[in-house]
Amino acid sequence: MSPQQAFWRTSFASGITVTEKPRSVTVFAPASVSNVACGFDVMGFALEGLGDDVTVTIDSGRAITIAVLNHLGSMLPVDPQKNTAGPPVAALLKRSGRNIGVTVNIRKGFASGSGLGSSAASAVAAAVACNALLDLELSMRELLPFALEGEMVASGAVHADNIAPSLLGGFTIVRGYDPLDVVRITPPDDLWCAVILPAGTIETRVSRSLLPASVPLGQVVTQTGNIAGLVAGLLTADYGLIGRSLQDVIVEPARAHTIAGFYKMKQAALEAGALGCSISGSGPALFALTRGEHSCHQIANAMGNALSRIGTPWSTFCSRVNTHGAVIKTEEPNAAL
Ligand code: HSE
Repeated sequence: MSPQQAFWRTSFASGITVTEKPRSVTVFAPASVSNVACGFDVMGFALEGLGDDVTVTIDSGRAITIAVLNHLGSMLPVDPQKNTAGPPVAALLKRSGRNIGVTVNIRKGFASGSGLGSSAASAVAAAVACNALLDLELSMRELLPFALEGEMVASGAVHADNIAPSLLGGFTIVRGYDPLDVVRITPPDDLWCAVILPAGTIETRVSRSLLPASVPLGQVVTQTGNIAGLVAGLLTADYGLIGRSLQDVIVEPARAHTIAGFYKMKQAALEAGALGCSISGSGPALFALTRGEHSCHQIANAMGNALSRIGTPWSTFCSRVNTHGAVIKTEEPNAAL
């Protein structure tokens, strides 16, 4: 039985089996840290607790209607071609062959433009909800390309380093884009992530325009070594190797100036014992990895204090790596369907 079928309730009345198909499905998809220092557009991991809830409901129309219930910052578009939840839903409706209308209600758990995969969380949650609602029985991996269509809307580029962890959970590596080939690894149990969210937003599209079109071979060699070292460190729970590998010689230097106090926060995190610290996605959030929860809180406080000294408001949180990704929260049955 597929996960979505498990959500269909079968009841027995007067000896007749009635299968109630869902009319409405709500899915939570987590926030994520992408790039993870050295792995630009390739590496990412999902976070615990923070994310978007998306409810997809079959309605009486023939169109996709999007509503954002709380914007938490900049106004998000409700045009299905411009909101990141729209393209995945349109593609899955097409796949189902059903000429029906759906309403997509998005409840943001964190602001867009934060660097924590906001656009991906909405796209992933919408894709998983639609898959269950339409009984398409696609696996989480099969949903990847559908969710990815939403990310294209947000940044103008196809990058799956937020989509993959938000959907699958754990630490993900986009081995290739053509065809899409995602490797998922489970990081060490005691790996924690401190996140600081400075006030303000950065548009991924703009942040990508700051990146160099080509890089010297020496930088590629350094970056490749760090990527390999990070993966080996995660697989062998070698925290020292993880720390040595959390270095980005290509993307971080091109973007650091867009985040006020970046180097001060990074220095504070490292002095407080972080294994490494860098920009989360395209920022302005920063992440720092560490071993254990206690250390994580110390690092988060240190980064916050550093930012307070330059007068920028901030919030922080600590999280383990989320290993389950997007989850169906509720479904509302409708026996009439
Ligand atoms: N890898 C993407 C970038 C993530 O850094 O542009 C955007 O959130």
